[in-house]
Amino acid sequence: MHEALVFRRVRAVDPSCDLDREVDVVVEGRTITRVGPGAGDGLAGERVRIIEVAGALLVPGLTDMHAHLREPGQEGKEDVASGLAAAAAGGFTDVCAMPNTRPVNDTRAVTELLMHRARAVGGARLHPIGAITVGQKGESLTEMADLRDAGAVAVSDDGLCVTRSDVMRRALEYANTFDLPVIQHAEDHALTKDALMHEGAVSTRLGLRGWPRVAEDVIVARDVLLAEYTGAKYHVAHVSTLGAVRIIREAKSRGIKVTAEVTPHHLLLTDASLIGYDTACKVNPPLREDEDLVALRGALADGTIDCIATDHAPHSLLDKQVELSEAAPGMIGLELCVPLMLGLVEKGLLPLARVVDALTRAPSKIVGLPARAIREGAEANLALVDPNRSWTVAPERLRTKSRNTPFMGQTVKGMVLMTLVTGAVAFDAAAPKA
Ligand code: DOR
Repeated sequence: MHEALVFRRVRAVDPSCDLDREVDVVVEGRTITRVGPGAGDGLAGERVRIIEVAGALLVPGLTDMHAHLREPGQEGKEDVASGLAAAAAGGFTDVCAMPNTRPVNDTRAVTELLMHRARAVGGARLHPIGAITVGQKGESLTEMADLRDAGAVAVSDDGLCVTRSDVMRRALEYANTFDLPVIQHAEDHALTKDALMHEGAVSTRLGLRGWPRVAEDVIVARDVLLAEYTGAKYHVAHVSTLGAVRIIREAKSRGIKVTAEVTPHHLLLTDASLIGYDTACKVNPPLREDEDLVALRGALADGTIDCIATDHAPHSLLDKQVELSEAAPGMIGLELCVPLMLGLVEKGLLPLARVVDALTRAPSKIVGLPARAIREGAEANLALVDPNRSWTVAPERLRTKSRNTPFMGQTVKGMVLMTLVTGAVAFDAAAPKA
């Protein structure tokens, strides 16, 4: 066990404290004790580990406010241990787990089980998200006070939309009394029945039933009005359309408490990826068109979209090696987020500081977690990234139990080298894979 870790001559980037410079960062025990040029000078010896990688970035530990860890009920796809290991390998120190498990996390008992499992396995920290409605049926509200007391940081029926306006209104009012954000999966199911992909020229050509943009937009528009009426905190999960971006931008300009996230895949891929009927590209909401991509990138850059969330959705081979109509929607994301987002930075499409903010301070603030800053005296929650190192996405490299990603076999640039959770090494790329 080392007494001190020294990150020597790293580019430390933490927009929450206006930091972007080459420094040494010293970690002793659970704490960042020194930050500055030459701060690690003089530290040497057996009990000091010095890490120096030319061109490396050091950022605060990332927060993913939207992941599916599948426990309880579908541990063949993922469980808390593998999910938190994958998260740490992706640079995340904090992961919020969506409640569409089996059983649904709609009770204190399931939330407590998750907290207990997470404490036992280590890796990144887990923050459960409780359901909005019992069984995600969209009818009666859950006991949100119980969920919050057990450790839930937000409520959502993700995977399904709360379509009834009266239920959504009461959910916002009730959650507001506990200061919990309500995260909506915005999909008018009446408009997406049997849909397999985005509705547009490609779906017409392929002869597949489409999921029109407006199915997302009508829900976001209604919810914004309800958020304004109730004064509650409303968050839109995985925004995918230019229309939703427009509505959120207008709502924010009027001071409504609305926040939003976007996934790396909605920033990078379009419905054209479905031309070969690749089930790895079936995702909910679906991959859209170029104009949506442009709108989403612009909205992330200007802060209309607050944060990046992976929507890590592990599925088994059996769920994906079937016809498109039978395939489960979703793709894995925890271990690919950093390189995919750095790719957009390298192309000059997004500023690095905004990407770091969207993966650290912004999501933490939405779910009420403490900011993980690079500052003397702060708890050491850090991710070390080599932005210049390329690697090929391959099954044996991944910690998640699932393999469902259209990026499999592709070479990406940007590698997470180390993740510290409260000073402890939760991931070390140099250590053999367990
Ligand atoms: O693609 C998706 N997969 N979207 C969702 O909303 C749910 C998720 C899942 O649970 O697999």
